[in-house]
Amino acid sequence: MEHYFTNNENLRSELRTIKYVVNGVPFSFTSDNGVFSKDEIDVGSLALVNAVIKYNPQCKKLLDVGCGYGFIGISLAKILNVTADMVDVNNRAIHLANINIRNNKVDANAFYSDALDNITNKYDLIVTNPPIRAGKKVVNKILLDSLKHLNDFGELWFVIRKNQGAKSAIELLKPMSFVEIIKREKGFYVIKAKNIDN
Ligand SMILES: C[S@@+](CC[C@H](N)C(=O)[O-])C[C@H]1O[C@@H](n2cnc3c(N)ncnc32)[C@H](O)[C@@H]1O
Repeated sequence: MEHYFTNNENLRSELRTIKYVVNGVPFSFTSDNGVFSKDEIDVGSLALVNAVIKYNPQCKKLLDVGCGYGFIGISLAKILNVTADMVDVNNRAIHLANINIRNNKVDANAFYSDALDNITNKYDLIVTNPPIRAGKKVVNKILLDSLKHLNDFGELWFVIRKNQGAKSAIELLKPMSFVEIIKREKGFYVIKAKNIDN
């Protein structure tokens, strides 16, 4: 079975455009077969973006892990007026994210990284709608490695369905971070974590 994170070069391309207004700012996203939430903005991703915008964290550069075609990283980069690094393992998603970065005129770059394996920088803000279907091992790696890539006072924000591991994600991060549920919306939890030792 094909997943949204598998690379299938033979999958027929059927480009489409998703237009979406976030916080009064219009965006246009090119999407395609073989990427997550290809026809509409994901409800969880939207809840995450809205929560981050409302909170307006101090940030110069953010990282979006599992960026897909780029909705989270691109909308936050534009609205918070910051630069963004965006990573995924799905090459088609990375290609689309780079098209969308250009079309929406944000200062960002999308590239390949399995979790944060190709990330050397540290960030003020790391955001992710993690790939639940890739399994708990991958999700846990993304969350734990994200904490290691935060600047002092940096924050990890993520969204996860209540019934798809929100509680266990909180337990995982608790020993080394302050974890807070920021918002509960339509079965999704938006969660923030900050390292304890800064
Ligand atoms: C739930 S989707 C979110 C996509 C996008 N951020 C959005 O909001 O539409 C999770 C993304 O993680 C990517 N992914 C899967 N396994 C990954 C891994 N090991 N490292 C990085 N990204 C991964 C998938 O390809 C997918 O694009």
